[in-house]
Amino acid sequence: MDAADLSQDLSEVLHTREAIDQRLVELAAQIDSDYAGRDLLLVGVLNGAVMVMADLSRSLKSHCTMDWMAISSYGSGTKSSGVVRILKDLTTDISGKHVLIVEDILDTGLTLSYLVHNLKSREPASIEVMTMFRKPEAATTDVDVKYVGFDIPNKFVIGYGLDYAGRYRNLRDVGVLSPHVYE
Ligand code: IMP
Repeated sequence: MDAADLSQDLSEVLHTREAIDQRLVELAAQIDSDYAGRDLLLVGVLNGAVMVMADLSRSLKSHCTMDWMAISSYGSGTKSSGVVRILKDLTTDISGKHVLIVEDILDTGLTLSYLVHNLKSREPASIEVMTMFRKPEAATTDVDVKYVGFDIPNKFVIGYGLDYAGRYRNLRDVGVLSPHVYE
């Protein structure tokens, strides 16, 4: 679905599908060059990073492998619960590997800070983070993020993998959810 299919539920479109595609091509070129000559393992964070993982990986010119983790931090509301739990772990051993975590959005930073800490303890050769969206004003935890798609305002957004109560992930664009949907 596109923003036009959802005009009632969106108060603002932040980034169109075209802008997201273009930004991913730029990021992929940077990642290709940074990882030249090294085997890259992309670790996607389910469910939100499904779209960015699919598009980023296909924009790369070099080989990569992929694995997935599922983590819960939100429930069905619009505020972080602060409690991070692993719901699904990696299926591969990452020791000695060059790992790039692929995330949909960095809000408070709690999820990524937990994840980076957890994966570092498994002794990868290197570990970096890519997030498609980041809310700089919401950060409560310092997370070292190497690749950022877009910085966005501190509002609850949906689309391109990001959900509210499980819906809107299949919206192609990214926009701000109208408060009337959750109030
Ligand atoms: P953090 O731990 O507060 O950084 O939150 C990270 C996770 O919360 C993301 O992976 C998303 O699943 C979810 N999240 C944070 N902000 C939003 C938003 O604006 N829309 C949808 N999901 C969000």
